[in-house]
Amino acid sequence: MAWNSDKTIIVTGGAGFIGSNFIFYLRKKYPDIRIVCPDKLTYAGNMTTVAPLLNDDKFRFVRLDICDRKGVYELFDEEKPDIVVNFAAESHVDRSIDSPEVFLQTNITGTSVLMDACREYGNVRFHQISTDEVYGDLPLDRPDMLFTEETPLDPSSPYSSSKASADLLAMAYYRTYGLPVTVSRCSNNYGPYQFPEKLIPLMIVNALNNKSLPVYGEGLNIRDWLYVEDHCRAVDLILQKGRVGEVYNIGGNTEMKNIDIVKLICKALGRSEELIVHVEDRKGHDKRYAIDHSKLSSELGWKPLTDFGKGIKNTIEWYVEHREWWEPVISGEYQRYYEKMYGERT
Ligand SMILES: NC(=O)c1ccc[n+]([C@@H]2O[C@H](COP(=O)([O-])OP(=O)(O)OC[C@H]3O[C@@H](n4cnc5c(N)ncnc54)[C@H](O)[C@@H]3O)[C@@H](O)[C@H]2O)c1
Repeated sequence: MAWNSDKTIIVTGGAGFIGSNFIFYLRKKYPDIRIVCPDKLTYAGNMTTVAPLLNDDKFRFVRLDICDRKGVYELFDEEKPDIVVNFAAESHVDRSIDSPEVFLQTNITGTSVLMDACREYGNVRFHQISTDEVYGDLPLDRPDMLFTEETPLDPSSPYSSSKASADLLAMAYYRTYGLPVTVSRCSNNYGPYQFPEKLIPLMIVNALNNKSLPVYGEGLNIRDWLYVEDHCRAVDLILQKGRVGEVYNIGGNTEMKNIDIVKLICKALGRSEELIVHVEDRKGHDKRYAIDHSKLSSELGWKPLTDFGKGIKNTIEWYVEHREWWEPVISGEYQRYYEKMYGERT
């Protein structure tokens, strides 16, 4: 199915990692649709990522907090969107352990404001981007166990609890108001434009700078990794063909121990493993995530296309070649970019 110029899609949080990749994916696949990106530009939002699109008259960036009901309603009034995809979130588990409140605000209240706006402006199709972390974790010694859509929600951190709450709200809006809602729960993503506080970009950037590589505990925790473009394709399919009122798991069939990823990055960049330092483990650290995505595969024909070897190579190369993107992130300079370059234009 193809979308054409009469479609307007709101992609919240599009100055962040996955949201920006999704916008680039959409722009390439559907050159005629209008894409509107409201983003609060928190520390995780980087205007330089979407700056190349600012001259595109079918793209609009708006600095906006999704909790700002008046601002969100005004945006819906102006843009009359057909679809809303909500990537905007506080997304870092460690930060949620330090200060949970903003996670509840953005991830729960913000999601409900967006869905209220969807109800108010014509029962707009709404997709909520969620995470496999809502299921809690799995034991390390039970490789047979995977998360399915029926696995009970059992989140461990303030971050995952806030995401689980938003998922429940989304389903409640479907049942109570008939809002056409879908939810996707994805495993760990990696790829270009990821903020270097998350495992893979942090290790790449530190290794490139010959800095130490801090690994929680022994680094034995297991995550299932998915290349970001495969996530974007899955969301596109769900929007095109998914059944409303349904949850879809998205996963990469790639379970890796954190320590093995760090060693792989050292090897790829020719750095010594002596850079690795083991630091005190994260509180309540989830042991293992593993996703069963057979519902998405059997209903919509999706499967991950980028294997980990290729995806991690692309990702490492991207960070090697894009110092101009991540060096200002590390220095903090990127946060001044919006005012300096685009304050007048959005
Ligand atoms: N990164 C992963 O591995 C992963 C895996 C599964 C699901 N997810 C989910 O995908 C979504 C995107 O994750 P990400 O890694 O791209 O996050 P990110 O932290 O890189 O980006 C989040 C974006 O949301 C914006 N934002 C934050 N609060 C906002 C608010 N109140 N109003 C408007 N914008 C706001 C930020 O400025 C930023 O641009 C999140 O919902 C996350 O829970 C992420």
